[in-house]
Amino acid sequence: GQTFEYIKVSTPKPGVGLVEINRPKALNALFTPLILELNTAFRAFDKDPSIGAMVLTGSHKAFAAGADIKEMSTKNFADAYGADFIEVWSEMPNTIKKPVISAVNGHALGGGCELAMMADVLYCSEKANFGQPEVKLGVIPGAGGSQRLTQAIGKSRAMELILTGKSFSGQDAYDWGLAARVFKTPEECVEAALATAETIASYSRIAVKACKEVVNKSQDLGIREGVEFERRVFHGLFGSEDQKIGMTAFAEKKKPEWKHR
Ligand code: CAA
Repeated sequence: GQTFEYIKVSTPKPGVGLVEINRPKALNALFTPLILELNTAFRAFDKDPSIGAMVLTGSHKAFAAGADIKEMSTKNFADAYGADFIEVWSEMPNTIKKPVISAVNGHALGGGCELAMMADVLYCSEKANFGQPEVKLGVIPGAGGSQRLTQAIGKSRAMELILTGKSFSGQDAYDWGLAARVFKTPEECVEAALATAETIASYSRIAVKACKEVVNKSQDLGIREGVEFERRVFHGLFGSEDQKIGMTAFAEKKKPEWKHR
């Protein structure tokens, strides 16, 4: 397979792709070469028919301590605007069709918090350290933080956090609804993310793809349009073999053998 400098890629369980951010010297600070590697890895897993879901994690110390401040410090407006700085970060949330679970341990600050929130499901350990500290650097969240954090935890809390740059714990992230689950230790967090990804990978790829698509529409459309969209996709699934296979298996008390896996 492909070799990477800043990430590690493996398939630790059937159907599960694992991507680990691995730039320990900079606490996994995110710079363009690293993001391009992440995109390459996600694209490959997304295309690989044996993979059903992905997990994104960092180290126990840092998921990612932000965008690389040293890379950014000398940029001017023309550099940033001209090169659409940070736009490549949007490839995972915008184009990857299979579910991505982020397993967050240690620091998830600035761009690290934003990257974690781009995943479809977020798990963390209690002591994870989240935050959007950009205001302290004289800037604002630049990779979706103001939108995704606000959507996840509500305006007043998000506003307070973004205006003060204060950190919040993994336990807070869970209590406020940003994290789907919280774990005592980093090991448990990663294990649980892999187990959930394995469960997802055991289902029909077609059904899973449609689940992700319709849930994501809830963020983009009003409730009425969203429900109509969901119903159309639901209708469409009656044209897939896996709907027949899944429902027949239930009636016959058998395990479904999915066509699309
Ligand atoms: N960018 C570049 N390098 C970083 C970094 C970052 N975001 N975060 C940490 N590092 C580097 C440090 O410079 C240091 O390198 P050296 O050994 O060469 O000095 C190394 O990683 C270890 O870091 P510390 O010595 O600071 O470790 P610590 O345990 O004392 O502190 C920390 C940890 C609290 C996370 C601290 O490193 C920190 O505050 N980092 C910056 C966090 C931050 O502001 N992130 C937001 C960035 S802006 C952004 O992300 C914009 C956006 O929205 C896209």
